[in-house]
Amino acid sequence: MRLSDDEQRMLNGEMGKGVQQAMEILVKMGELFGAKRFLPVKNAHIDAAAYTTIWDAGTEFIEYLLNNGARVAVPTTINPVSRDIVDWKKFGTTEGFAEKSRRLEDAYLKLGVIPTWTCAPYQCTNVPGFGEVVSWSESNAVNYVNSVIGARAERLPDLVDVCCAVVGRVPEYGLYIEENRAGDMLFELEGFDEEWFQDSVDYAVLGYLVGEIVVNKVPVIKGLPEHTMPDDLKSLSAAAASGGAVALFHVVGITPEAPDLETAFQGKKDYKTVKITPKEMQEMEERLNTAKKDKVDLVLVGCPHLSFPEVREIAELIEGKQVSENTKFWIQTNQTVYDLAQRAGVSKTIEASGAVILKDTCLMEMECDGVWEGQHFVTNSGKAAQYAPSIAGVNITMADMKGCVEAALTGKKPEGGRRKC
Ligand code: F3S
Repeated sequence: MRLSDDEQRMLNGEMGKGVQQAMEILVKMGELFGAKRFLPVKNAHIDAAAYTTIWDAGTEFIEYLLNNGARVAVPTTINPVSRDIVDWKKFGTTEGFAEKSRRLEDAYLKLGVIPTWTCAPYQCTNVPGFGEVVSWSESNAVNYVNSVIGARAERLPDLVDVCCAVVGRVPEYGLYIEENRAGDMLFELEGFDEEWFQDSVDYAVLGYLVGEIVVNKVPVIKGLPEHTMPDDLKSLSAAAASGGAVALFHVVGITPEAPDLETAFQGKKDYKTVKITPKEMQEMEERLNTAKKDKVDLVLVGCPHLSFPEVREIAELIEGKQVSENTKFWIQTNQTVYDLAQRAGVSKTIEASGAVILKDTCLMEMECDGVWEGQHFVTNSGKAAQYAPSIAGVNITMADMKGCVEAALTGKKPEGGRRKC
């Protein structure tokens, strides 16, 4: 790689051993991907926050950087950790595990991160501009920031994301290169009436389906309604990055790099077209629905973390009602959204129902140890439908937000809220 004078000084160790270590890793990674140079970044988002992701070895690496003079060089937000920092005891986290998480959180705070502890930094605190080069990890966030905002990002591996934040640079490869951002495959939606795409769960199912087919290429989706909202695209981003490894998608007429088909494909004509009808959506949803029993053990929403409008929607649906004593209702968000919910009085409404709001964390990042094995989860998240069975050994029923609340109130698989084709 060709290095600037400053980058060479970092590599030589003139800015400390921590920066030198980060630079050595990034040069090796850049060479592996054929990068010719580094790009300066204006902000970073780190995925490697949960103790259950990087364990003791990862914690020691962060402490090594810290103890050798490294600090983040640009404003840097960070993913959920492995415990609700305030209410960890309420969720069964043990003292020893909380201590491991606390040690990692402390290291990151000393490194200089902004303690957002969220996988949806784009809905509060860290909102890059169109075309801005950023070093982000966390698959849903990379997909969102590339696709919905039009910033420039790639799926950086855990800990490489920390190195980028420390040197304020990223190797120029993959989706940092303009021509790699062209669409590869067209998905045409057909036969959907106005009942479809009224809830983000439809976007989750679509995202999962598209991700499975396109894997790690760039899909272009045509036919989504004009009323598509950022929270809908958040669901699509997370599911497409889980069903496949999508890091950038275009929605014609909605996302910024796709005002029309020609622009989305950068003039390419030789792309494959896949038709998606209600039948394919129904079949996809049936494959995600692995639960056989009626009784629901846990309803899980907020993967990725919920925005304030989503938290308010739950409050409106649940006001004056009680969660079934046979089930649990877990609502995942970050402290920033929780503060807004408190100010607006909606967290009180939700908590009065018996539902609980997790901050700073998520079930998939918490201490697990088989506690959920064989249980039945209802969720509106395509990413949770992918990860919860493999991480926690559970079975899934997909539902829209109304169906999730219904399941929490009755303790049973929801009847309402989902259409049949
Ligand atoms: Fe976020 Fe955890 Fe889901 S980090 S995207 S809530 S698996």
